[in-house]
Amino acid sequence: MQYRVIFTEDIRYCFYGRVMMKVIAVVQNKGGVGKTTVTRVLAEYFSRQGQRVLVLDLDAQCNLSRRFLTMEYDAADPDGVLPPLHPEFDISDDQSGWSGRSSSADIYFSGDVYPYPTQLDSLLALPGHGPRLREIELVRSDEVRDAVHNRLHLFLSLVDVQRSFDLVFIDTAPAKGPLTISAVRAATHLIIPTTLEPQPIEGLYGMLQLWRREQNSREADRPLQIAAIQPNLFRKGVALHEGLLDSLRDDQALASMLSPVILRQRIAFAESDHPGAQPKSLFDLSPKDPAHKEVLAFCEHIHERLIR
Ligand SMILES: Nc1ncnc2c1ncn2[C@@H]1O[C@H](COP(=O)(O)OP(=O)(O)O)[C@@H](O)[C@H]1O
Ligand SMILES: [Mg+2]
Repeated sequence: MQYRVIFTEDIRYCFYGRVMMKVIAVVQNKGGVGKTTVTRVLAEYFSRQGQRVLVLDLDAQCNLSRRFLTMEYDAADPDGVLPPLHPEFDISDDQSGWSGRSSSADIYFSGDVYPYPTQLDSLLALPGHGPRLREIELVRSDEVRDAVHNRLHLFLSLVDVQRSFDLVFIDTAPAKGPLTISAVRAATHLIIPTTLEPQPIEGLYGMLQLWRREQNSREADRPLQIAAIQPNLFRKGVALHEGLLDSLRDDQALASMLSPVILRQRIAFAESDHPGAQPKSLFDLSPKDPAHKEVLAFCEHIHERLIR
């Protein structure tokens, strides 16, 4: 896919036609439940299917960005993860006024946005920028916070974005802060990964509240669907896991949202998270490998939910 420049200032060119692009936000205010894993696996699956995919990292920790790009570090700030220089950046062109780095934070700061190419042809990434995303999370004024809440939806409504991508996957921080709310507001679908332990289950119910509130504030022609409540890191034989899974299955209100594919705790998932992993992708494991089969079943389930 050709890399493109998307101008956030062109918000006046919003897309008023039938919206085909799907925006999937992966949310859960507990960490370590598999948000980043689920986002990267789905982005990879759909781009291997030939769909034009954009991944957006809204977590200041930038874990998702690291999977797709070689991120850099600000020596003066231990949490300062920065995007690399963009491959299209011309260092000799000092008239451009561009720093050469682009990130998801630029969407909120009204900068121009330059998605990065990745190893996969039809997958572009807009990485996080640790310090700038943290700055957005800390906004206190109601007025600025409202602007942040709406900003991503406006950006993803741009005609250029709508024409460039079929799917956008958004990875979020383990928080219900302004950036996560902006992702929920921009989304057509939510995926809520959860482990089968008390705190993440509480987090799941909190996310469902956020979803209902958002549903109630939307126009009827822009529904927000739950593509999946996705159990992850399940261990068979662990009474806590089995008990909590049963209670999710018994909850009638959740029945239509609970994924039938349960992702187990498998070392292959964690190994594939390592930058030096061989093979690099779960999809390059043998078709008989249980982790490959499971992840494929999960992606196929989400695929079916998205085209419904
Ligand atoms: N099904 C799984 N089996 C084994 N390890 C997993 C699985 N899912 C996620 N992990 C690992 O657990 C850790 C947390 O997952 P991650 O996707 O980063 O969660 P989050 O983004 O919600 O914080 C990572 O090290 C990841 O590799
Ligand atoms: Mg994460």
